[in-house]
Amino acid sequence: MKRLDGKSALITGAARGIGTGFAEAYLREGATVAIADIDLDAARATAEALGDGAHAVHLDVTAQDSIDAAIAATVETAGKLDILINNAALFDADRTIDITRESYDRLYAVNVAGTLFTMQAAARQMIAQGHGGKIINMASQAGRRGEALVLVYCSTKAAVISMTQSAGLDLIRHGINVNAIAPGVVDGAHWEHVDATFARLEGKPIGQKRAEVEAGVPAGRYAVPADLAGMAVFLASSEADYIVSQTYNVDGGQWMS
Ligand SMILES: NC(=O)c1ccc[n+]([C@@H]2O[C@H](COP(=O)([O-])OP(=O)(O)OC[C@H]3O[C@@H](n4cnc5c(N)ncnc54)[C@H](O)[C@@H]3O)[C@@H](O)[C@H]2O)c1
Repeated sequence: MKRLDGKSALITGAARGIGTGFAEAYLREGATVAIADIDLDAARATAEALGDGAHAVHLDVTAQDSIDAAIAATVETAGKLDILINNAALFDADRTIDITRESYDRLYAVNVAGTLFTMQAAARQMIAQGHGGKIINMASQAGRRGEALVLVYCSTKAAVISMTQSAGLDLIRHGINVNAIAPGVVDGAHWEHVDATFARLEGKPIGQKRAEVEAGVPAGRYAVPADLAGMAVFLASSEADYIVSQTYNVDGGQWMS
């Protein structure tokens, strides 16, 4: 018996990176997985590479009709929705005096409103089904404290931690567990973008910020998506039925709380 046998999961932003790693692990544990992403071509390629049980779904978490359509498509394909991972997010950085409204609005639309309204739509579906469910939100160590150049992104991830607490307390009455994962630094396109952003802001060569950050990770290296997958499987399984509103650090020892 696998840990997610017969479960139907939807993972936002799963066309690449951490979301793809989660999808791989869920498929291994017996779930069917909707690879939901704004980049439908990439989602299709990922679903095809992952094989049986994975199906691509177009999703823009900033648009309510797209959220509703993605949930409906998942239910049509898999018959139900048991697990949501709110994984899609954007990163940006700038000095406080240079932050633009455009950057603020873009990050809040995806990281905060996108997380909230995808969670809401999934919860409505789970309540209608009557068998509870699991919702996992992707926070970050960036949500645990500020960073001089990362005001907006850090604040969106603090909001994710807070929304996880409130939604978890509200939805557990329906048997829906809402929890979050706070990664530290994970190799992939996201960190290439972070490194390039810091290179621009701090006048560093490409790769230097990444190396400086890696030197401060107690575990001695960046994570790969597979390092986070065990927590994502656990929080989606029945072993986590009594875990409510928590955010777990999976960060190689970078943060303690
Ligand atoms: N990589 C890290 O070091 C790190 C650290 C801490 C937290 N996280 C968090 O983990 C999660 C995944 O990170 P990642 O590194 O895999 O990111 P990533 O940038 O590699 O992938 C994000 C995915 O989200 C999709 N996406 C973007 N906007 C979308 C939208 N409006 N609707 C639907 N999909 C959209 C993208 O197409 C992409 O496939 C994010 O929430 C991120 O903030 C990442």
